[in-house]
Amino acid sequence: MAGNAAAMAFIAVVCAAAMAAVSGAEEVYEFGSGASFIFGDSLVDAGNNNFIPSLSKANMTPNGIDFAASGGMPTGRFTNGRTIADIIGEMLGQTDYSPPFLAPNTTGGALLNGVNYASGGAGILNGTGRIFVNRIGMDLQVDYFNITRKQLDDLLGKAKAKEFLKKNAIFSVTVGSNDFLNNYLMPVLSAGTRKTINRVGENECVKLPNQLASKYNGRLRELLIQLNSELPGFETASMACCGNGGSYDGMVPCGPASSMCSNRKSHVFWDPYHPSEAANLVMAKYIVDGDSKYISPMNLRKLLSL
Ligand SMILES: *[C@@H]1O[C@H](CO)[C@@H](O)[C@H](O)[C@H]1NC(C)=O
Ligand SMILES: *[C@@H]1O[C@H](CO)[C@@H](O)[C@H](O)[C@H]1NC(C)=O
Ligand SMILES: *[C@@H]1O[C@H](CO)[C@@H](O)[C@H](O)[C@H]1NC(C)=O
Repeated sequence: MAGNAAAMAFIAVVCAAAMAAVSGAEEVYEFGSGASFIFGDSLVDAGNNNFIPSLSKANMTPNGIDFAASGGMPTGRFTNGRTIADIIGEMLGQTDYSPPFLAPNTTGGALLNGVNYASGGAGILNGTGRIFVNRIGMDLQVDYFNITRKQLDDLLGKAKAKEFLKKNAIFSVTVGSNDFLNNYLMPVLSAGTRKTINRVGENECVKLPNQLASKYNGRLRELLIQLNSELPGFETASMACCGNGGSYDGMVPCGPASSMCSNRKSHVFWDPYHPSEAANLVMAKYIVDGDSKYISPMNLRKLLSL
């Protein structure tokens, strides 16, 4: 890690009612208000998909019901409250959440909080997320960062912009679940096991992606099991809070017609694919201050103190 700038990638896939992935994000000490540049998928999308014709959207109630900054209105975040990236930003002193790149007012001074490029359905591989019709893949997210980079040069001047990025910026990549589903599960589905998948009962975890997911990231799995068994407050890591009726295909997992649990803090999963804010809070703590069992080679606080 050069200077104060830090970067990390944290890729994970997990399964309970279905599956989900988790992230990292970063920040800087001395400036108190760092700029967090967030790349990834629906785990950290803060509203980019509101601006594209995608089937992967969360700008409908009850998503965002616990998001204080919007007064409980949906923002495009695929959870009831803050994402992991939001929480980590707060824990490390970010003054405001990184705004979505595609929001028309993400210009000028707003860029100094960082920018969020994440898009529901996105993956590392370019073809990932095709089933959602549209999404901003990692390729395009990086192109978009280049646009921001130019905007910062215009805003601050070249030398200052460079210093700003070096001292304040942290970059996080939170991606993996869609690549995983598309490129591991999908080929299997089309190879003829579709019936098996369709027969899965509503409260049953899809076995195949489960098995693949647990291999893909044993550590996060461990964490979620621990969430469920050791930490007080959670009642279930298998049932989603919103849309647990079993008829969801994952494209529109939680919406106005979905049922919603009565205690949102008691569910690890908000919808069949995405952790609740309560789970995000616990995971963010592990990422920022956890030991090497959960975050390696070191936790975020340590990384940022280098
Ligand atoms: C941009 O516009 C949205 C929607 O009107 C608003 O919620 C948000 O606070 C604005 N962001 C900034 C940085 O002005
Ligand atoms: C990925 O897709 C975008 C948009 O379709 C395209 O511009 C880009 O060249 C592709 N990248 C690769 C590596 O195929
Ligand atoms: C981003 O900008 C840098 C510097 O201007 C350039 O070298 C790089 O090729 C650009 N990358 C993309 C993906 O456009």
